[in-house]
Amino acid sequence: MKINFKFKICILIIGSLFALTNCTDPGDDSNIAKPIALGSPIINQATDVNSNGFKISWTRVYNAENYELDIALNNTFESYVTGYQGKSVTNMYEEVNGLNESTNYFCRVRAINSNETSKNSAIIQTTTLEGNGPEPTTALKDASTTFMVGMAVKAQQLTNGSKYDEILKKEFSSISAEYEMKMNIIEPTKGNYDWSKADAIVDYAVANGINVHGHALVWHESAPDWLKNYTGTNDEFEQEVKNYITAVLTRYKGKVASWDVVNEAINDTDGSLRNSVYREKMGDDFVAKCFEFAREADPDVLLFYNDYSVTTNTTKQTAIFNLIDDLQTNNTPIDGVGFQMHIQYNSPSIDQIKTAVDKAVERDLKLHFSELDVRVNPDKDITTFTSERAIAQKNKIKEVVATYNAIPAKNKYAITVWGMKDNDSWLISHHNNANEWPLLFDSNFEIKKAHTGFLQGLD
Ligand code: XIL
Repeated sequence: MKINFKFKICILIIGSLFALTNCTDPGDDSNIAKPIALGSPIINQATDVNSNGFKISWTRVYNAENYELDIALNNTFESYVTGYQGKSVTNMYEEVNGLNESTNYFCRVRAINSNETSKNSAIIQTTTLEGNGPEPTTALKDASTTFMVGMAVKAQQLTNGSKYDEILKKEFSSISAEYEMKMNIIEPTKGNYDWSKADAIVDYAVANGINVHGHALVWHESAPDWLKNYTGTNDEFEQEVKNYITAVLTRYKGKVASWDVVNEAINDTDGSLRNSVYREKMGDDFVAKCFEFAREADPDVLLFYNDYSVTTNTTKQTAIFNLIDDLQTNNTPIDGVGFQMHIQYNSPSIDQIKTAVDKAVERDLKLHFSELDVRVNPDKDITTFTSERAIAQKNKIKEVVATYNAIPAKNKYAITVWGMKDNDSWLISHHNNANEWPLLFDSNFEIKKAHTGFLQGLD
């Protein structure tokens, strides 16, 4: 009896529901009730996270036909991962691959059907893991199609058949002499030229089809003692400088493509012209004079002004570009500017690099990142090269290379790395810091993550 009664009630409820539903069906489209807005999917935290991807999933949305997935490098979704700006997905998940290791990604998804698009889901953030696999071995010069990749060398390292020689030829398309093409080496005593080291470097490059960037004609640090302590008249001093520039450019005409004519003429503190023997004896226009001497000696060679802290020290940056503006206004022949780029793992920022780079581009100059190295221990807070710093170094190099790579091709020249292996770096020998790992190869010639960062910057 009881069961029967319940059963009857059920039938009644179902029956009236059925009647109600049918009542609202007029059999005429115009009267269909407005559909409820398409709901947003609920996005889940990423799963299966590895060094180059992860799986992302979300809840099904009633009436959705498919979903649009955004993955970006920032939570404002201004910089999308290629292929992931509103990628259409029919499943409720996506396996994302080909991402960079140790990188933050931001994901959101929305539902769509033929009538409407839902609001975005919440944003989830996920960080890919650090990779343990071998670093890619693609050669830098092969990956870089619009500018040269250079390296600073010492003559004694250029022995055919050595590991050093093998890597140099494989990876690099340009060289700079780390110190052997400076005046204290080439003209150590007045009137006596020693070309042995410079010739060895230039001959090696010519024999192997490698570009040579000449570094540097006039640098207060490498003026030989006889010039620093010059006792002749100012005119005679100027003639010595002119003779030197003429002799060097004449000897290497057609073999050295470009020169840093003047290196580091601006003070760090206030952007004033650095005091040096050149300035004292030749006057404040010594920079212009040296560019004129160089152009007279070789009409074809590219002439650069080179300096450090150009991206980080804005007072100095302004002064350098004022100096260049003066040169250009007076039709002094200058083709390019070199930013040394002795930088560190946490500085400069992309914006700082970009601001400085734009100034070179606006002036129609060729830009050379001429002495790149990235300190990972500027505050001396580590005693071993940690994987966290290796990743930070890699990411900084990637930023540097990507920012450079984005400038117009006509403004590009080269990015030159200041040495091959960590233990060759001048930062160790000259700055007495054994705990530094600033270059692209480790002390055993192994490719570092920094090298991978360079490659990724070219992507
Ligand atoms: C350094 C070299 O690396 C050293 O080997 C050399 O003894 C001194 O000079 N800015 C420059 C480079 O323009 O010439 C310097 O190179 C590093 C700083």
